Amino acid sequence: MKRMNMLLIAGAAVITAIGLVALAGLGAMAVVMFDLMSGTATGSETLTPAGSPAGHALVVYNPGLTGGAKTVAAAIAGDLKDAGYSVVLAGVKSRAAADVAGYDVIVVGGPVYAGNASGSIRSYLGQLDPAEGAKVGAFGCGSKEIDNADRTAVLADVAGDTTLDIRAALKLTQWDDRDEECAAFVDRLLG
Ligand SMILES: Cc1cc2nc3c(=O)[nH]c(=O)nc-3n(C[C@H](O)[C@H](O)[C@H](O)COP(=O)(O)O)c2cc1C
Repeated sequence: MKRMNMLLIAGAAVITAIGLVALAGLGAMAVVMFDLMSGTATGSETLTPAGSPAGHALVVYNPGLTGGAKTVAAAIAGDLKDAGYSVVLAGVKSRAAADVAGYDVIVVGGPVYAGNASGSIRSYLGQLDPAEGAKVGAFGCGSKEIDNADRTAVLADVAGDTTLDIRAALKLTQWDDRDEECAAFVDRLLG
């Protein structure tokens, strides 16, 4: 009887372990799959302010599966344009995103998966070498709410372990007031 019980416990443990490994595998696969959309982000556009520009800004995005992060990037780009900047809104795999020379402001962002920025955004931030004095911001979109006043938590969520000097960071969920949060983010970045 005792031996039977031990066999049952061992069997349950093996099944649980297999389940956990399968779940972790599926999670890892999902994270890789969801970043595939960054491969489509090869386009860019320029937003020109009225009058002579106050400076040049680059907003780089991974659109994510739904394109939600591109909408946020476009809102940030619009706010920078309204602040007088000439803005290049560029997909993370675009030619425009690869050349960061001459920008006074650089913003980078995309969806948050498994507590971190997507792989394409992390590798972009990893190789980013902004001009001296350039103001760098990072944003992320996800389902987990974080208080945007908690800079350290937001940074860890949207920009991973970057060593860059990030001046402003923003985490947005679908429940946040996107336009208001983006405008406040741009104020923090430029201020
Ligand atoms: C596998 C997976 C992991 C996720 N992990 C997080 C997370 O750690 N934090 C978060 O805020 N949102 C997380 N989310 C939610 C996504 O960030 C959210 O769905 C976001 O809208 C993704 O954008 P997309 O659907 O356009 O790709 C996760 C979603 C998936 C599918």
